[in-house]
Amino acid sequence: MNKRIAILAGDGIGPEVITQAQLVLDAICAKFGHTFSYTEALVGAAAIDATGDPYPADTHEVCMQSDAVLFGAIGHPKYDNDPHAKVRPEQGLLRMRKALGLYANLRPVVSYPSLFDKSPLKNDRLVGVDFLVLRELISGIYFGEPRGRSENGEMAFDTCVYRKDEIDPMLHLAFESARKRKNKVTLVDKANVLATSRLWRERFQEIAPQYPDVTADTIFVDNAAMQLILNPAQFDVMVTGNLFGDILSDEGSVLAGSLGILPSASIGEHTSVFEPVHGSYPQATGQNRANPLAAILSAAMLLETAFGLTEEAALVRSAVEVAMSTNQVTEDLGGTLGTKEVGAFIVSQIS
Ligand code: IPM
Ligand code: MG
Repeated sequence: MNKRIAILAGDGIGPEVITQAQLVLDAICAKFGHTFSYTEALVGAAAIDATGDPYPADTHEVCMQSDAVLFGAIGHPKYDNDPHAKVRPEQGLLRMRKALGLYANLRPVVSYPSLFDKSPLKNDRLVGVDFLVLRELISGIYFGEPRGRSENGEMAFDTCVYRKDEIDPMLHLAFESARKRKNKVTLVDKANVLATSRLWRERFQEIAPQYPDVTADTIFVDNAAMQLILNPAQFDVMVTGNLFGDILSDEGSVLAGSLGILPSASIGEHTSVFEPVHGSYPQATGQNRANPLAAILSAAMLLETAFGLTEEAALVRSAVEVAMSTNQVTEDLGGTLGTKEVGAFIVSQIS
């Protein structure tokens, strides 16, 4: 198989972890006779420094011309500490999602037994934890208009907007995903307070009966936040809006033992994007300390979701599981290896 992959490594530890993910993809190519060609493009603070724009038109073009995008991380402390900064790295990520029409974000959370002790939760709560946060990604309060500040600057406002034609595809995707998993969908909303949530719930009640083989459940987001800690194994597919999904997926990472192992996929109209859930971790930049497993597992999602290469993806995942169960891991997981050494171990398991 011949495919083109856009590499948007971004800021901080992004380039280091993406390099390891690429080496893993190269090992897969060598073993299975595929050819992947890579095109690098700028995004985030790195793109602002070079062009003044966190998502330059050239980068968008590279994404549009590729079969998949492998994305590192964005964010830089010099922008975080300046509330008046006119342009921010994060705008690059949000604009990319919107421009590529990536309406659905898939964030799987699995608690691997070899990492139970890395989670602050008691081990018995972690048994059987394997769920998918399905987050709407290009609408809701992140993008709703109007937004901004009053003229005197003393009031600020954001608007949450959802339309039926944004909700329905998410719900169908949730039920279809559940059919490949454990056949359960939970809608997470705040329908006791928010009009947008009531529309989600109305659509859910209409669509759920079309999937009689899938258990359909609803939960308020505050209760969901609590249930994720009390009894996380009850969940299979959690489908929700943009902001709730952002928050619950970070909470979910605690169950997995480290943010350093969570991958994600964003899919929609144009080229799909695969990226680790973690951020740019500026303190560790260039120190060979960052955990590359989230980037490597994102590459596995790329193989499976974008190219349909399930056997290849399974091989990457099983190599990652061997690394975790034999402690060939970075410091966040209690190991002593560096970023490059973990990547090399995964490659050695594949070759
Ligand atoms: C995420 C991040 C982004 C988001 C930020 C960096 C804009 O937190 O991908 O979860 O809020 O969507
Ligand atoms: Mg987030």
